[in-house]
Amino acid sequence: MSPLFELRDVHFGYYGQPSCLNGVSFCLQTGERLGLVGANGAGKSTLLHLMVGLNKATSGSIVAFGREFQTEEDFKLLRRRIGLVFQDADDQLFCPTVAEDIAFGPLNLGYGKADAMKIVDEILDVLKLTALRDRVTHKLSGGQKRLVSLATVLAMRPEILLLDEPTNDLDEDTRERLIEILIGLPQTMLLVSHDRAFREAVTTRVISMKDGIVVS
Ligand SMILES: Nc1ncnc2c1ncn2[C@@H]1O[C@H](COP(=O)(O)OP(=O)(O)O)[C@@H](O)[C@H]1O
Ligand SMILES: [Mg+2]
Repeated sequence: MSPLFELRDVHFGYYGQPSCLNGVSFCLQTGERLGLVGANGAGKSTLLHLMVGLNKATSGSIVAFGREFQTEEDFKLLRRRIGLVFQDADDQLFCPTVAEDIAFGPLNLGYGKADAMKIVDEILDVLKLTALRDRVTHKLSGGQKRLVSLATVLAMRPEILLLDEPTNDLDEDTRERLIEILIGLPQTMLLVSHDRAFREAVTTRVISMKDGIVVS
């Protein structure tokens, strides 16, 4: 079976800096929850951003859902099917309230207000976050923000979820809840995490990055 998402010999460097992805290749198979590890600065976040078109590869190819993605128009379509939960929740949340933040994606996809609100309530229910519905987003705790970030991404109903260090700064209870939520979700996932116990609980396979390539 062909992979759901594949990077082939992808290169990328930030402007004016030495290249930080030096030929990354790996496959993400349908249904797997793939872990990605690597030292600080190894390029893990850069790679996730590249997978959704926020960084543009200088060479190599990105193949997903049976086709290649190259232009910004291509990536606009891809971002409807693959959702990134950022390392920093403050990069994800920008609306006054939790419900507005979660509704933003569906409204942007063209859902009417009533349908978007229905999605908001469904997602809040699945994540057991209904109590936060009308809270002011920027006043939430770090852990609450992380779960709301996940809710904003799930509201777009992606087929693939990318999560960048999702357990950072979570208390033990929230971390356990996140593990339970992720294990219960149907999406194919790529999870960047330094947290070994979290990886052991959630991932089905682990790859690592070193010197700008995937080494295993
Ligand atoms: N927006 C940026 N502009 C320039 N350099 C960046 C930027 N983001 C990350 N870098 C650099 O790219 C390299 C890889 O960073 P990053 O992908 O954040 O690593 P990781 O997520 O594995 O810790 C590091 O050297 C980092 O300093
Ligand atoms: Mg990072």
